Amino acid sequence: MLTINLWPWWKWGAAVLALAAFAVFAVLFAVTRVEMHQARESAERLASSAPQARPVSRIAVVYFSRSGNTAVAAAHIAQRMGAGLFRLDAPAYDVGLPGILHALHDARSPEAVIAPTTLDLRGFDTVYLGSPIWLYSPSPPIWEFARRNRFDGKDVVLFNTFNSKFEQRFIDEFRQVVLAQGARSFRHLFVKRGRMGQQLSSGELLGTIDTAWTLTMPASAPPAFP
Ligand SMILES: Cc1cc2nc3c(=O)[nH]c(=O)nc-3n(C[C@H](O)[C@H](O)[C@H](O)COP(=O)(O)O)c2cc1C
Repeated sequence: MLTINLWPWWKWGAAVLALAAFAVFAVLFAVTRVEMHQARESAERLASSAPQARPVSRIAVVYFSRSGNTAVAAAHIAQRMGAGLFRLDAPAYDVGLPGILHALHDARSPEAVIAPTTLDLRGFDTVYLGSPIWLYSPSPPIWEFARRNRFDGKDVVLFNTFNSKFEQRFIDEFRQVVLAQGARSFRHLFVKRGRMGQQLSSGELLGTIDTAWTLTMPASAPPAFP
């Protein structure tokens, strides 16, 4: 007589959970490897580009970047427009497994621990705010910066890099935040890099910015040295 040795349901449940946990860990590990590679590539590109000694226009570029893509975009914009370049640090989200877990946990939060939290933006008429997209929304560090700084009378441009998708409702909410902080206008620019494995290189990313975005330096404005 044929006997089938069936596991009790809870053993099946535990096995499925263990497999799922392993799969999630394996994906996060693979993503982290790709991000580390991107971060290295971006750091090399940034190191080889000429630093902007002082802003020669009344434009500021403030950005947060985890794996370097938004950083490359920000440095390019700043160089193209003679702008002041300001980086926001948020060590909780550094590249690596703990960083990506924190990023996933906080992705939809408007709060983050950043440095600096405020900047003296009085000498600037236009402020570019750069960030990656996390779970369809701009990342927490740029929300934190937008909530904590005044943009009275300034034109604010949010720019994002992302893989495949953002949701417009988060951009609309971000717009409300910067308008409530005094901005006189809001614009949204972005670069879609494509899904992992078929993403734009950093050179292609900059090419997209040059062809798809209108980066104009106001001709009449005097330089700002805040
Ligand atoms: C926690 C996390 C969540 C993400 N969520 C999205 C998303 O919802 N949509 C998307 O297209 N890309 C998403 N991405 C990919 C990033 O937006 C993309 O790689 C971006 O260019 C990274 O910018 P950075 O290198 O400046 O950090 C996510 C990345 C991370 C780490």
